[in-house]
Amino acid sequence: MTQQLPPAPAGDPAPSRLSLAEKASLTSGAGDFVTTAVPSAGIPAVTLSDGPHGLRLPKEAGDGGQVDLHSAAPATCFPPAVALGSSWDPELARRVAGAIAAEAAAHGIRVVLGPGINIKRSPLCGRNFEYFSEDPLLTAELGGAVVRGLQEAGVGAALKHYAANNQETDRMRVSADVDERPLREIYLRAFERIVRRDRPWSVMSSYNAVNGVPVSENTRLLTDILRTEWGFDGIVMSDWGAVRDRVTALRAGLDLQMPGTGGRTDREVVAAVSAGDLDAAVLDTAVERLVRFARRAASAPPAGRTVAAEEHHRLAGQAADRCVVLLKNDAGLLPLDPARGTVAVIGELARTPRYQGAGSSQVTPTRLDTPLDRLRELSAGARVDFAPGYPLPGGTPQDAAAEALPEDALADEAVRLASASDTVVLFLGLPAQDESEGFDRDHIDLPGAQLRLLERVRSANPRVCVVLSNGGVVRTAPWHETVPAVVEGWLLGQAGGGALARVLFGAVNPSGKLAETIPLRLEDTPSFLSFPGEEGRVRYGEGVFVGYRGYDARRSEVAFPFGHGLSYTTFDYSGLRVTARGEGGAALTVALTVTNTGDREGREVVQIYSGGPAGSAVARPPRELRGFASVTLAPGESREVVVDLARDALAYYSPREAGWRVEGGVYRIEAGASSRDIRLSAEVTVAGDPSRLRLSGRNTLAEWLRHPVGGPLLMDRFARARPEGAGPGAMDDPVMRKFLAGMPLDVISEFPQSPVPPEGVAELTELVEAEGENRGQDA
Ligand code: BGC
Repeated sequence: MTQQLPPAPAGDPAPSRLSLAEKASLTSGAGDFVTTAVPSAGIPAVTLSDGPHGLRLPKEAGDGGQVDLHSAAPATCFPPAVALGSSWDPELARRVAGAIAAEAAAHGIRVVLGPGINIKRSPLCGRNFEYFSEDPLLTAELGGAVVRGLQEAGVGAALKHYAANNQETDRMRVSADVDERPLREIYLRAFERIVRRDRPWSVMSSYNAVNGVPVSENTRLLTDILRTEWGFDGIVMSDWGAVRDRVTALRAGLDLQMPGTGGRTDREVVAAVSAGDLDAAVLDTAVERLVRFARRAASAPPAGRTVAAEEHHRLAGQAADRCVVLLKNDAGLLPLDPARGTVAVIGELARTPRYQGAGSSQVTPTRLDTPLDRLRELSAGARVDFAPGYPLPGGTPQDAAAEALPEDALADEAVRLASASDTVVLFLGLPAQDESEGFDRDHIDLPGAQLRLLERVRSANPRVCVVLSNGGVVRTAPWHETVPAVVEGWLLGQAGGGALARVLFGAVNPSGKLAETIPLRLEDTPSFLSFPGEEGRVRYGEGVFVGYRGYDARRSEVAFPFGHGLSYTTFDYSGLRVTARGEGGAALTVALTVTNTGDREGREVVQIYSGGPAGSAVARPPRELRGFASVTLAPGESREVVVDLARDALAYYSPREAGWRVEGGVYRIEAGASSRDIRLSAEVTVAGDPSRLRLSGRNTLAEWLRHPVGGPLLMDRFARARPEGAGPGAMDDPVMRKFLAGMPLDVISEFPQSPVPPEGVAELTELVEAEGENRGQDA
């Protein structure tokens, strides 16, 4: 519990009265989930809790923060990030976070350890259920909304896991070897946006190393990028047990080691300062930040209020409604029609739902709705019969007798039920033991017993709707071709059973869209050949081509694309207008009209992608998500949807220029119902950023020629070097021109007939500088 202490005098952020030992003690935890207090200086302790989709409470709040993974006190289990990602609804994420904050505050918890905003590089990552998406923009919008929702309610966020923590295999040691462009454009992008815009109180540094340097000791990541470039003003805390060398970590910018080490590493800090190995100012800076953090936390709402458990359960259900993704619905199998007769609900997962993943994020729910109970409640008189169909390893079936039956007997019973029913709702999914923090999967298949059952049930009754429960993507090919309806239910939190029943019976019109691609095969995934690495290193060989960016670039077929999700109604898109705003016209306003062309109210998530520009200096994915908006429409209703794109939306990160850069040229702006259902597209010409590069002899002929000042100057030299009346020169021969294009100018200058002699290159370079602001496009 945060101690109720008088606030320390303002304007004394790093109290000079603190001893060296007290200062060192502040930079590590006092317990597993509590920071160190210095009561004599009015510095309170801060109690922390996982995170991210509900609280993992200590059994009794106030017990010093000791938490047992399996015995936490009840808290509302909201839909985990895998599901929330499919809502594409930042406002919903904000409300959910607000409710989590209210529960935190009631229990005296000042900081919630989340959101987790790592990118889903591979569907195999064991922790994908804790992350939102394979796309950085969607991740930033949802993760940022969670930060706002928590912090508006006075509870701090810990943005995690910074950075490039995209696998569980060897997570405590592995080095993610990532080139600068994918690092900036994919893996740091959401961190950057959220830090700049939403100002989280804290960032949690990840276990792994990046490009060989452990993140907790990585000055570039923790100080140069996070603080100097992005202006982060909170604290960096380590992931639990992520610090190897405490003094090096402090020096790199890590303020707080978690959990505490009983004073052992504090003594190392004291010794390093005393011996002159660690600058005392480094420790003071960390202490200043930690004191500011503790005071921020102390001003949070008072503990001891009651939690609105029922209200939060309802909110968890409403959130789950928005997360369900209708993948397929041929011949209108869904919504179920109660008038048609018996519905066979088959699958242990209908009765023993999976609703969250395992590990540090595991919440003990306040209650749990099962899909089977909720289907029975909503069936409006239709008969709902149940058969478990398969064993669920690691589950806790309510009917122990069923678990004892062999697989064949369970399947036989289910097939009999399927044949005797009008429609089958078949619950399939991953058993709990398949996915957790701490390890990755090595395949994406459903369990064999379930696939065998599916085959038999489908032969007995073709009217099958498959409902999936899974925290990481599962393979749906080829079986999804053989059933008329598929619902992706992810892990939906404690009220997810009701949401599935509402979608199946049509009380809720589904509007979730995939936040990650469902591939045809694991082998198709862009990271397949370099996941999870070997001998302590994982090379992010696919570069920026992560998720749909990679499938699109290779034009490979997928089972269900990023952004896909059906509704019980249909939408028409029309009238796309793209208007350039601001300097250079790279800030864009995209407007279009969406019409509900079906006969039910529905919500559509409109996705705006960009592609291009043609002739880009770097390899660009065919399309990248740049914005999105959702609209709820009554049957026949039309509404204008407007999405503003900031100037930096079109930028790529240039390692050579060490900065973001908008290239000039013609871009394609697309409006789609998914990344592969592009309904409208328009072209827009954008003026590029001036180049920050200086031309030199090491630039190629092509780069010189593209340069707005250097190009004409060089062409002039070529023209002047040719004798009057001479025939065509080297630059007039297309093959020769291409041949020379890739050569640096200082190499060309050595050729006997070069129009620019070696000593002329420097002179030319100076001329370019002098001629003005050296504002090239691609130099
Ligand atoms: C996880 C973090 C979590 C922390 C505290 C670590 O193992 O990686 O996400 O917040 O434990 O439970």
